[in-house]
Amino acid sequence: MGFFAELDGRVVGAPSILAANFARLAEEVKWAEAGGAELVHFDVMDNQFVPNLTIGPLVAASLVPETPLPVDAHLQILDPDNLIPSFVEAGVASISVQPEVVRHLHRTLAMIRSGGCEAGVALNPTTPPETIEWALPYIDYVNVMSVNPGFGGQEFIPEMAEKVRRLREMTDLPIQVDGGINAGTAPVMVEAGARVLVAGSAVFEGDPETEMRKILDAGRRAAGEIK
Ligand code: DX5
Ligand code: ZN
Repeated sequence: MGFFAELDGRVVGAPSILAANFARLAEEVKWAEAGGAELVHFDVMDNQFVPNLTIGPLVAASLVPETPLPVDAHLQILDPDNLIPSFVEAGVASISVQPEVVRHLHRTLAMIRSGGCEAGVALNPTTPPETIEWALPYIDYVNVMSVNPGFGGQEFIPEMAEKVRRLREMTDLPIQVDGGINAGTAPVMVEAGARVLVAGSAVFEGDPETEMRKILDAGRRAAGEIK
């Protein structure tokens, strides 16, 4: 079983380390963990699919042994098949890809699963949920991007709540939301049916423990998990 398979409808927080200080990554993750984070969101960018460049399997391999939390790699790159084996080797728990640039989605998802990782699909804001309809049996979680991939700190796109709703009608798979998530937007997405809250700048631009806790509390309140 994996992290997403065992979620059981709970609201969870996934700090996006894109907004962390990379010189002290493990510490930043620990602070977010103290605030209730349960998954580390690891953004991989190639200056091709997106106009930004970040970190790859070597950094993942260094981080994985430093945290008890599962690491979730979000591949915002062309030709992800080339790097999936290295991320599997690095010990990440799950890998999501962007169907907009994957040539053979079924094969890519199978490759992720055969490496023992859970397989996710991340949808750009204008990518219709129906794109993944025939891939659903091969997917373990869906990431609804609520900004255009590439940068942290962008403005939340409110129409993405409707996309979460549409996906909810299509599938029971766990839905992750990524982009502009904070204590104000998290409840909107949770009410729509999202359960995994990815947040970068909202967590790391303040005290990560306090900020992670605020977002989680807001999300859990919206789900009726707490008062
Ligand atoms: C954007 C990334 C996000 C990013 C979110 O391409 O996929 O994970 O870190 O950052 P915030 O939470 O600042 O919008
Ligand atoms: Zn991401």
